[in-house]
Amino acid sequence: MFSDFARLPFVLKYMYMAKKILIANWKENPPTERQAAKLFAAAMETSKVATATTVICSPEIFLEGIAVQAKTERKKGGRAILGAQDVFWEEAGAHTSEAGPKMLKRLGVKYVIVGHSERRRETGETDAMVNKKVKAALLAGLRVVVCVGEPIEVRRQGVKAAQKFVGNQLKKGLKNVESASLLIAYEPIWAIGSGESDTPEDARLMAVFIKAEAARIAGRVKVLYGGSVNPKNVRDFVSQKEIDGALVGGASLHAGEWKRIVKKIGLS
Ligand code: PGA
Repeated sequence: MFSDFARLPFVLKYMYMAKKILIANWKENPPTERQAAKLFAAAMETSKVATATTVICSPEIFLEGIAVQAKTERKKGGRAILGAQDVFWEEAGAHTSEAGPKMLKRLGVKYVIVGHSERRRETGETDAMVNKKVKAALLAGLRVVVCVGEPIEVRRQGVKAAQKFVGNQLKKGLKNVESASLLIAYEPIWAIGSGESDTPEDARLMAVFIKAEAARIAGRVKVLYGGSVNPKNVRDFVSQKEIDGALVGGASLHAGEWKRIVKKIGLS
């Protein structure tokens, strides 16, 4: 009896500890379906030892194959969740090459990334488009990861300027949105794929800012950090209580590095 009571604080603490979330963004990789299946199998294996929730966002073209694979691997204990890298705001119709939220959901997708800076830059995605995507995806019951982050010219003007930039993205991107299923990925553009991550302290300050801003607009959100996350630095970001996880690009394409990243993250 006594020993049960002695364990109580630990059990309560455990119950209230939030699960961190690690999202792999494969971008336009790997080149073949076979390689995607192999990488996903490895991620499923890794998820068995994960304390964090792990989400794999594969290119849309591989999603169906991976979804089938996931069913088999789940029976063997794999727990990685399926995500998509984009979504369209209409469910059907004359929208060449697009995929709507319900199409993705039917495949077993649970998370979608919206407004990644590469889409903003390469396909001209605006905050207004991000807003439409966020609303449609939430309506379909998907968890939405909205990417925000400032370019280097803005960051050079200081943290306040960066916050103003990100605050504006949030204001427009989350306009008329109210949800408990939102995640915001803070990805300073200059840190993406550059090998030069933000400092954990600046990322923490931005997470605090984003949580306060988003709370005024849409409600409580989780905040992830993204931008050159690797096995060596992931814990510096994700162990902070204001940062709920990480969005990982390049390092998620190497099964071994992804595993090292996942193993570094516990509860906090
Ligand atoms: P990176 O990409 O980890 O390769 O910097 C992150 C992202 O763009 O989501």
